[in-house]
Amino acid sequence: MSYKVFIEDTQEEYQCREDQHLLSGMEALGRKGIPVGCRGGGCGVCKIEITSGQYTKRVMSRDHVTVEEEARGCVLACRVKPQTDISLKVVGKMKKNVVRVGIEK
Ligand code: FES
Repeated sequence: MSYKVFIEDTQEEYQCREDQHLLSGMEALGRKGIPVGCRGGGCGVCKIEITSGQYTKRVMSRDHVTVEEEARGCVLACRVKPQTDISLKVVGKMKKNVVRVGIEK
């Protein structure tokens, strides 16, 4: 089974298998949008906020995702697998490199 992942910041969409992390699914297709770092939950650059859809997640470092953030859908894309179609926003510290137009400082 694979699901559609929509990156709101770039309006890009890709397919991710249910057994693949959102980040590796994107990379496997040679797509960009979510910043890629350590791929192992350690650096926090792949931080995203899931705005719709269901997912499974592995334990994430509190250095990168606080309890409050996790409660509102903030996760690390390298630790999360889709269970339905997903919509997400990039929220990590590399966000400004993804969204080029000066929306944020
Ligand atoms: S790529 Fe480093 S935490 Fe996800």
